[in-house]
Amino acid sequence: MCGIVGYIGEKEAFPIIVNGLKRLEYRGYDSAGVALFNGTLTNYKKKGKVADLEHAVVNKNLSGTIGIGHTRWATHGEPSDDNAHPHSSMNGIFSIVHNGIIENYARLKNDLIKHGYSFQSETDTEVLANLIEFFYNQDESMTSEGAVQLALSKVVGAYGIAVLCKKENDKIVVARKGSPLVVGLGNGEYFIASDASPIVEFTSQVIYLNDEDIAILQKDGFTLKNVQNNPVSLKVSNLDLEIGELDKGDYEYFMLKEIYEQPKTIEETFRGRLKSDYSEIVLGGLMNVFPKIEAAQRIIIIGCGTSWHAALIAEYMMEEYARVPVEVEYASEFRYRKPVINSNDVVILISQSGETADTLAALHLAKEKGATVIGICNVVGSTLARETDAGVYTHAGVEIGVASTKAFTAQVTVLTMIALKLARRKGTIDPEEYKALVKELAAIPEKGRAILEGNEHIKRIAEKYYEAVNALYLGRGYLFPVALEGALKLKEISYVHAEGYAAGEMKHGPIALVDDNLPVVVVAPQDDYYEKVVSNIQEIKARKGNVIAIVTEGDTGLKELANDVIEIPKSHPAVAPLLSVIPLQLLAYHIALLKGCNVDQPRNLAKSVTVE
Ligand code: G6P
Repeated sequence: MCGIVGYIGEKEAFPIIVNGLKRLEYRGYDSAGVALFNGTLTNYKKKGKVADLEHAVVNKNLSGTIGIGHTRWATHGEPSDDNAHPHSSMNGIFSIVHNGIIENYARLKNDLIKHGYSFQSETDTEVLANLIEFFYNQDESMTSEGAVQLALSKVVGAYGIAVLCKKENDKIVVARKGSPLVVGLGNGEYFIASDASPIVEFTSQVIYLNDEDIAILQKDGFTLKNVQNNPVSLKVSNLDLEIGELDKGDYEYFMLKEIYEQPKTIEETFRGRLKSDYSEIVLGGLMNVFPKIEAAQRIIIIGCGTSWHAALIAEYMMEEYARVPVEVEYASEFRYRKPVINSNDVVILISQSGETADTLAALHLAKEKGATVIGICNVVGSTLARETDAGVYTHAGVEIGVASTKAFTAQVTVLTMIALKLARRKGTIDPEEYKALVKELAAIPEKGRAILEGNEHIKRIAEKYYEAVNALYLGRGYLFPVALEGALKLKEISYVHAEGYAAGEMKHGPIALVDDNLPVVVVAPQDDYYEKVVSNIQEIKARKGNVIAIVTEGDTGLKELANDVIEIPKSHPAVAPLLSVIPLQLLAYHIALLKGCNVDQPRNLAKSVTVE
């Protein structure tokens, strides 16, 4: 949460920073701000989006070749101009932008107040700004990086920070712990950002900072050390990111673009990993750990939000085919509930961003207990990717819409490949069935394209139901997690209260909600559960509920019974989630649009949740 951008070089910094902040708005959009050296050290900041900041600074002196900027997801203090970053220290010596939470800020603030400091905002960040200034003023020979190091040694919590010091106007000091920062290496210029997207058109050479790294950037070079002042070795990485990926193209919203990209992204996910005769799945990143996965007494899969739903699908699949007990955990629960973790457990962590704070904390806990930790993530070079023992990238490309779509289907694709490969190695799946399933997986992109052709039909269904205030989503087996995901999509982007439920559980509560105002989306393709789900639909219809059924192409029976049907091509039940989720994403999208919501930037949410 919160996005940081910085620039030092010969170019004008403001436009580079503002464009970069726009690319990071998925991390939060409560306020935006920039600090520049332009003769002096000036902060420009505004509540709202980056575009609001741009309007607010028309006619201001924005010239300067060194600057830092921030787009905020509010934690301490409501969204307001005062609480917007950058924050100045009391005497204006420092300007700082921060992503993360300073947990002991209240105690530090009290100490600073005793030393005569006063505060303009309610933020924890201003406390850090003043703490840095306090140490800077203690000793005439103190450098700004020295003051930052001292301040950070007193801080409990997470931070990615960029700091400008009025008295040392030739440098930017950056540091991270728990919140990501990337340094872009240009020619006589450096960039910093929370992820690589603001940097991509300037350089492909980057350094991902590690926890407790501190970098001092100057036009003619930079120094990397750690907060304890020890030197740190440099690892320069090459960015594998196309500028075109950051563009909406002809689509109105990134979310729609990303929904439509799924046939292609699923292909990208299995490209080079499925042998053309379907005889083998190759997962290079797991080669060394597969013996451990095979030997595991138990697999624990951990994630948050949509990634957690992908984990649930994997549980069904791994247990059915690889016959290994699987537990699925919310990262936020797992990290605090003192779980039993053994050294022969395999823990799979799923995260699109690879930066979700709870998921990273769960990773650290599992590692500490000696488990083998495997990451499934989309963002190359992310913390999860770097800190796990092994992993698989989903290769879905940059996902910008806050509500996850293509990253989800890519995760499910990876998990399907892992489950099938594991089953094959363990000999728990019939070889013919294995081959048939791999073939089914390979056929998903084509079938996905057919579903997308039904977009207009789904839009018309949305027009019928968009004024509903509640919605229920039902599914069974592999499609229960899909029901959860469909409900989450609707909640996230249209603010309609929606619940996902296992269809068989409906009688134990949700059926009480059914009346003629309630749309009930039932994922009901022709699989082993079909008859039972049809009975559930009968029960809803008997109570005048409106059923929108996701059915197998050509299913005439449900066409009669349901109010509306959306057809999807026939597929094997184990890969059906990859298809049946697409109409649910589109339904949520159209309902949100009809309600006038900002689909890509839903209120209160952020894509990358780097705080607890
Ligand atoms: C946020 C996003 C969701 C995402 C979840 C987990 O809540 O809005 O779309 O599923 O975080 O994010 P991760 O990057 O760990 O998959």
